[in-house]
Amino acid sequence: MAAVRARRWLVTRSASTPDPAAQTPAPPADQLVSLGFRDVAPEEKTKAVGDIFARVAPSYDLMNDLMSGGMHRLWKDDFVKRLKPQPHEHILDLAGGTGDIAFRIAKRGATVTVADINPGMLKVGAERAEKRGLAGLEFVEANAEAMPFEDKRFDAVTIAFGIRNVTDIPKALADIHRVLKWGGRFFCLEFSTSQWPGFAKAYDLYSMKVVPRIGAAVAKDEDAYRYLVESIRRFPDMPGFAAMIEQAGFRQVRYQPILGGAVAIHSGWKY
Ligand SMILES: C[S@@+](CC[C@H](N)C(=O)[O-])C[C@H]1O[C@@H](n2cnc3c(N)ncnc32)[C@H](O)[C@@H]1O
Repeated sequence: MAAVRARRWLVTRSASTPDPAAQTPAPPADQLVSLGFRDVAPEEKTKAVGDIFARVAPSYDLMNDLMSGGMHRLWKDDFVKRLKPQPHEHILDLAGGTGDIAFRIAKRGATVTVADINPGMLKVGAERAEKRGLAGLEFVEANAEAMPFEDKRFDAVTIAFGIRNVTDIPKALADIHRVLKWGGRFFCLEFSTSQWPGFAKAYDLYSMKVVPRIGAAVAKDEDAYRYLVESIRRFPDMPGFAAMIEQAGFRQVRYQPILGGAVAIHSGWKY
């Protein structure tokens, strides 16, 4: 069985490091960021999101199947098909978590770096890669807002269901642009706002009422899944997010709605 190459889980904060959220005075209202339906200081969001994914990591994959009825697998297949990874390419899967996107890319022969802020999610991902005998993957603990990669390193950067969890999204988009080679592409899979009126209503009801209950029953964490649903509501709509990608310097920015836009694939090029 091929081993997972270069497992680099860089533990960047020691247990004795003070919690920045506990020490910083509250910032002015225009500097607050959304944490689900609440507005909080940026440090508080980063810490809370970190805690949420540390808690849900062991049940994350099962919960994805239950919440989406397995549909997330089809969305991810479609996403990687549109990305068209090539065997000679080096691709960064940012907020890669437990590796779903990275594994699909690696199967097409490309070299993949999985980066995520959460060591718990990366650990599950590295274990899954090992079980599947997947080679050509490395796992790096990294914050999307300030990645430890040199400029122009990657042929493509992907991020799936990750960007809405990032505290400073424009900063992360600028860093994604920085680490892409000229001619490189950015692909993002994320929940958005469905334009199908009947579907949007039913989906809203399902996500607000049912998903937190599944979270409580299976992951024993209703709050974590309530946050995940609320964070979808706060995320910009498809044209709004496309404008943010353009602001970061990307060109030919496009989006492809799935289920009328309940999920969307955004893409852009660096040239
Ligand atoms: C919903 S999971 C998605 C995981 C995987 N991409 C997938 O599609 O299954 C979101 C991931 O974003 C990561 N994340 C949140 N904020 C991040 C940040 N600032 N930098 C890097 N990763 C981050 C979380 O740790 C988590 O693993």
